[in-house]
Amino acid sequence: MEPKLKATEDFSEMKAPSGFRISERALNSRILIGDLASHVGHNVEIKGMVESVREFKKHSFVTITDRSGAVQIFLPKTVSEKPPSVGAFVVISGQLTQSSIAKLGYEIVAENVKIHSSSKIELPGMLDRRLDSSLDQQLDNRAITLRNKYVRAAFMCQAVVGRAFRETMEELGFVEIHSPKIVSGGTEGGAQVFKLDYFGASASLAQSPQLYKQIAVGAFERVYEIGPVFRAENSNTNRHLTEFTGLDFEMAHIQDQHDVMDVEERFIAKMLESLKNRASTELSTLGVELPEYKQFPRISWDEAVALIEKHGTHDSSTNFDREVGEAVWKEFNNKFVFVYGYPKEEKPFYIQPTPGRPGRTESFDLLFDGLEISSGGQRVHDFDLLMERMGEHGISPDDNPAYRQAFAAGMPPHGGGGMGLERVAKNILGLGNIREITLFPRDVKRVLP
Ligand code: AMO
Repeated sequence: MEPKLKATEDFSEMKAPSGFRISERALNSRILIGDLASHVGHNVEIKGMVESVREFKKHSFVTITDRSGAVQIFLPKTVSEKPPSVGAFVVISGQLTQSSIAKLGYEIVAENVKIHSSSKIELPGMLDRRLDSSLDQQLDNRAITLRNKYVRAAFMCQAVVGRAFRETMEELGFVEIHSPKIVSGGTEGGAQVFKLDYFGASASLAQSPQLYKQIAVGAFERVYEIGPVFRAENSNTNRHLTEFTGLDFEMAHIQDQHDVMDVEERFIAKMLESLKNRASTELSTLGVELPEYKQFPRISWDEAVALIEKHGTHDSSTNFDREVGEAVWKEFNNKFVFVYGYPKEEKPFYIQPTPGRPGRTESFDLLFDGLEISSGGQRVHDFDLLMERMGEHGISPDDNPAYRQAFAAGMPPHGGGGMGLERVAKNILGLGNIREITLFPRDVKRVLP
C-alpha cells in the first residue's frame, strides 16, 4: 500500500520562506524515525541505514537508523527471505505497531523492503556497539567508523557546540567573517608554521585568524569566525592537532579582559543548555553527564599559584593547568575557571600589558577540568606600543602591512578569544583523545585518510 503521510518536519509549511511553494512530492516525503511516535497504528515509510540485524527462523529484527533516530523493524521471512546486510541503505514500509518488547514501545512490521545498496564489507557489530579496536585502526577506517552509533552521537554533540557558538555570537551582534588561510608570514609568531611554496614565493598556512580578526574590529566592532587553524606543532599528545577548527571572536570598546570573559562564559553556559536541549539522546547514548552551569570563578595567575600552594595540588609533572584545576575544584567546587593576568613571557605580542603591574598581562585562559579550552585577552591598540611589542618578539610589521595599517589608522580598545572546537568538545564529553572528535584528524603522524 502507498503510504500517504503528513509532511515531515523538513517540509512543514510553517518553516518555509514566505512565497515558497511546497511541492506535492515534498508533502508526501518520507517520515523521519524521530517523528514516528505520532504515527503509531498507521502505515509508514522510512529510509535509512541498517545498523544491526538479528536473524531468526521465521523473521528477522532489523534496526534502521536515520539522522533523527533508530527504530526496530520486524521483518517476516515471507516479506524478505534474506534480511538486508548491516550498512545497507534501504526504504522500508509497513504498519507502525505497538510492541511491548521493542525499546521504543513500537516497531514497524515490514510489508515492503527496497534495498538501494548493500554493503560489500562485513560490518556486523561495527555500527551498533562501542568500538573496541585501537583508535589508530578506527581512524584508518574512518569512513566506516563514522557511521558507528557512538561515534555519530559524539559528532552530533560537537555540531551543537558549534551551533551554540554561532548563536551566541549572532545574539550579541557579532558579524561573521572569513579570513584568509594562506598568508605570507606566520600569524602568532613562533615556529609553528606550515610553509608553502606559493608559485615560487614563500607563504604559510594561518596559525589563527588573530591579526585579521583584529583588523576587522576596526571596521565592524564585533566579529567572529569559525574556520580551520593550522599549527605545525610537533606535539604528539591527546589534545593537539595540526589542523583544528577555531572558534574565534574579537570585540571593540571593552573596558578590560573581563568583558571578553563575559562573552566566553555566556557561550559556555549556552553550550551546556543547548547540549541538554538538543542532544539529550546523544548524551545518554554516550553516558555523559554535563556539569550544571554555575558562575565561573575568575582568579588571577598569582591567586592560582597561591591556590595550588594552599591545596597542595602541586604535582611532579608540573602541569600548571591540571594543578589549578584540582585546586579550583577543592576551593570552588567548579570545573571551570578563568585564570587571568598571565606573566608577559607566556603570552603573545598582541596582548596588552597590565597598566601598573610590570610583567603581567591582560590575558586569560579558560580551563575545564584542568585542561585549557580557550585563551584570550585584551589587545594592544596603541600603534607605538604595538610596534615596540612586535620588535621585542622579533616580528617585522612588514610581514603583514594590513595589520600595521589598521593600527596606524587608529583602533578602539579591543579584545577577544579563541577556542578549538574539537578541544572544547573533547573535554566537555570527557573523551580520552581529541582525535575521537575530529572528523579526519591531522597530526604529526597522520594526514590520511
Ligand atoms: P591559542 O594558541 O591558545 O590562542 O589557541 C586557542 C585555542 O585553540 C585550541 N588549540 C588547539 N586545539 C587543537 N590542537 C592544537 N594544536 C591547538 N592549539 C590550540 C585550544 C586553545 O585554547 N589567537 C589566540 C586566541 C585569542 O587570543 O583570541 C590563539 O590562537 O582550545
